[in-house]
Parts: sequence; C-alpha cells; structure tokens
Amino acid sequence: MLFQPTPHKSEVVHSHLKGMRVVTNSTEVRTHILQWQHAKHSHALVPTMGNLHEGHFRLVERAQQAAAKSAVTIFVNPIQFNDKQDFVNYPKTEQADLQALERLGVDLVFIPDAQCMQTDKLRHGVSLVAGTLAQDLCGVFRPGHFNGVVTIVAKLFNIFQPNVAVFGEKDYQQLCLIRQLVSNLSFNIKVLAVETVRASDGLALSSRNNYLSQDERACAPVLYQSLSQLATSIRDGRSDFSQLASEAKETMRAVGLKPEYVEIRCAETLAVPTTQQFPLVVLAAARLGKARLIDNIRINSP
Ligand code: PAF
Repeated sequence: MLFQPTPHKSEVVHSHLKGMRVVTNSTEVRTHILQWQHAKHSHALVPTMGNLHEGHFRLVERAQQAAAKSAVTIFVNPIQFNDKQDFVNYPKTEQADLQALERLGVDLVFIPDAQCMQTDKLRHGVSLVAGTLAQDLCGVFRPGHFNGVVTIVAKLFNIFQPNVAVFGEKDYQQLCLIRQLVSNLSFNIKVLAVETVRASDGLALSSRNNYLSQDERACAPVLYQSLSQLATSIRDGRSDFSQLASEAKETMRAVGLKPEYVEIRCAETLAVPTTQQFPLVVLAAARLGKARLIDNIRINSP
C-alpha cells in the first residue's frame, strides 16, 4: 500500500493512489476544492468515521452519481462520543479503507488528525448545539452526541464547501439533524440520503457489528425483524402504537437484546404522531453485548 500515515501528526501527508489524493490538512483540501471550482466541477462529500463497509460504498457511489468529483473524510470524531471507551475501541482500518476508496475511484480523501480538527477547542470553545430533537431518541442515551456530530459536520462543510453531501438513512435521527443544520445555518448544500444496506438476514450494516460475538450476531437480526413486524402491523391498520412498541421490545428481549427505545414517529420531523400521519418511521436502539445497535423502517403509506 502506498499510503503511510505520518509519524508526526502535524506533518503533511500527500499520497497518490491511482489519482486518488489523500490529504491531512484543510489547506490542502481547499487547494483541491479551488481547482475543482475553477474547472466548474461540482463536488460531493461523504463524511465517515472509517472502518468502511458496503453501506459506506453505497454513499460513495451516490456521491459519484451526484457530482463530478467525490471526496470522503475519515475522522473518528472524539466530540461525538460520550463514552471514552467507545471512542478508544472504535475500529480503525485505514489501509483497507483507502484501498476500497481507491477501487471506487474517489478523488480526494481527507484524514485529519485531532490537532487539525481542533477538537479540544470545539469541546471547550465555540461549537454548535443541535437543539431539542438532539435530546430525544438516541440523544436520551447519548447526551451531547448530536452536538458533536453537527459541530464536526458543519466544520467539514466549511472546509469542503460541497455542492452535495451524502448520509445514510440508517442514522435516521442524525440525517434529520443534518438537514436542520443545513437549513437553519443556510449552508448551500444538497443533502442526499441513501437507503440502509443490510446483510442477507436483515441486520443493518454498521461498524459496531464488529463487536458482536458469533452468538450475538445470530440474534442481532431480531432488531430488524421486530421493526418489520411492527411496520407490517401499522400498514395493516393497527394504530395502538405504544402497545406495538411494547410487543417489539418483548420480541427483542426474548433473544437477549436490551432495547433502549422503540418509537413510531412522523418521518419528516420525528415528532410524536397524533394519528396515523403518514409517512411514519419506526426507530429503535438496543444493546447487545458490547454493541449498541440502531435501525429504522420508513412507512410511507398504509
Ligand atoms: O455517521 C457518521 O459516521 C458520523 O456521525 C459522521 C457523520 C461522519 C460525523 O462524524
């Protein structure tokens, strides 16, 4: 592999991987972006935390369809982790990630270090507050998480000034908050969402699936199965949402999943629906061993 991470964090790493450029500071990013803008090439951004899998590859492919140039960021953002151990353990597979991105034909990869991203200053100085939606659903169990997400995504948007940014529907609440970020702060960026990619047994692909033991991995698809069952019941006309959520939690508990929440919400706003206000989305988070799994299913109409 041609790319070698620099031993000195502040040192600039340039790398050519069949035309793919790997850069580690924002000045270099801006140089590339200026060249693209000068040549009237649109560009799309895919922010990631690395440990790339098929789900990320679909985001990259969507970015490539949407714009002339594609950029991917790989940064395990410390300010969105409320559990230090979770941050430390987060899987890092930089060389494999770069090989995959090169194969996909990505134009630019940004792998900043924490110093470049100034995460301490973001933690203690000026940063963004994600608002009330960020305190709901996953935000109840991960206080501060979405403040860290929107702050780092806004920073990446400022560095890259992309025409398009691509995110996965698997992180549904994150997607809604990023849409709010773009709208509320008037970023001139089109946000594209890509459907969740699943294993053949239905489990949504996630870097955190790596934490599952063999037995846990066998039980994990029950998260999706119970949400699918719940969605089918709503499509069939049931409107006793809290009873449906309790049944889904019971199904999960029966195989050892520890549900944090199962909720039925309005798909656009994530507000609690008063009636069957389609489109709806069913969202859940559950613990399984060392992993925290999330998933959702959109229900467009009965
Ligand atoms: O979804 C993720 O991988 C992260 O939350 C993101 C958007 C890259 C911000 O760090």
